[in-house]
Amino acid sequence: MNIAKPLVLLSAMLLISSCNSIPKNSGASLSLKNTYKKDFYIGAALDTNQIKETDPMVTDLIAKEFNSITAENCMKSMYVHPEKGKFDFKMSDQFVAFGEKKKMLIHGHTLIWHSQLAPWMAQIKDSVTMAEAITNHISTIVEKYKGRINSWDVVNEALNEDGTLRKTVFLDTYGKDYLSFAFKLAAKADPKTDLYYNDYNLCNAKKRKGAVELVKNLQKNGAKIDGVGEQAHWNLTSPSLDEIEKTILDFAELGVKVSFTEFDISVLPNPWDIVGADINQRAEASEKMNPYPNGLPDAIQIQLAARYEAIFKIFLKHQDKIDRVTFWGVNDKQSWLNDWPIKGRTNYPLLFDRESKPKKAYYSLIELNK
Ligand code: XIL
Repeated sequence: MNIAKPLVLLSAMLLISSCNSIPKNSGASLSLKNTYKKDFYIGAALDTNQIKETDPMVTDLIAKEFNSITAENCMKSMYVHPEKGKFDFKMSDQFVAFGEKKKMLIHGHTLIWHSQLAPWMAQIKDSVTMAEAITNHISTIVEKYKGRINSWDVVNEALNEDGTLRKTVFLDTYGKDYLSFAFKLAAKADPKTDLYYNDYNLCNAKKRKGAVELVKNLQKNGAKIDGVGEQAHWNLTSPSLDEIEKTILDFAELGVKVSFTEFDISVLPNPWDIVGADINQRAEASEKMNPYPNGLPDAIQIQLAARYEAIFKIFLKHQDKIDRVTFWGVNDKQSWLNDWPIKGRTNYPLLFDRESKPKKAYYSLIELNK
């Protein structure tokens, strides 16, 4: 097939449509956070370089576009609590200081998670030692940042795809009540911070049902839970808009806030035809699986923008139920999706390109809510 002609046509269309979609008042105040100010917080996950402010251009972009931040890695137990009773708060201190300096909503990610878990915790064999470990971990961290962190992912990814509780060292040693235990400890350590349950693939009906039960159980056990975080690691076609809307409605009905906590849209083929974000799943690299190593074709750029726009329309429709939409990274270069589930690919899932320049999807989202 001769693809040259359609490509020329598409490029012309892209040029015309992106010119049309660049807002007229592209002054200094034009930004995602201002555009969505009345609706929900707009967040980004920051990596170590961004927290350290190594690139002033990126620092300015973060401050201009976002009003909430999440630490992409530095608050996970393997980094913040690498040895029993030994904490390393160097990066998390800088992260919190960054958010305070820029007057942002600061989200803590994450207290109890089976991945990127401190090795000493992974080796615990009995309930008493696990109770001590969870207590020390949560109380120390949450108390340290009391009054400075607005919300925490207390437990991350506790569910299997069928909605049952995932077999982890926490479940194996402490039993199913580790969830209420963790939420109660966090509430005691900082009664005012919002407490979240966070997971991926909550559009899967069975898993969503499991998450609804999980929240109801916490509420029944007298634990404070303020929100459900939907990670939202999605792609160009899945999940459907109906499924996305359903998750918002189902969680809002429980009386908790709904946040989209790790939003990105992969444009690359999925090696397993499954949905999700289990960071322990890996697949082999191949040329077929990395189709755009030298740039995203215009047609896909348009598709990505349309997909972001369609999803944000649903978010706007339910802005009264949604507290925050956080992107899992600032720019495409930083995205974890370049290395997951296949290492070394070139993915384009975010609103800013590898040079931190706004993409068509960015302008679509500004235009949508001007
Ligand atoms: C990812 C980070 O982005 C990567 O840098 C790291 O190597 C692995 O973890 N679900 C989560 C996030 O809750 O913490 C994960 O972040 C992505 C999936």
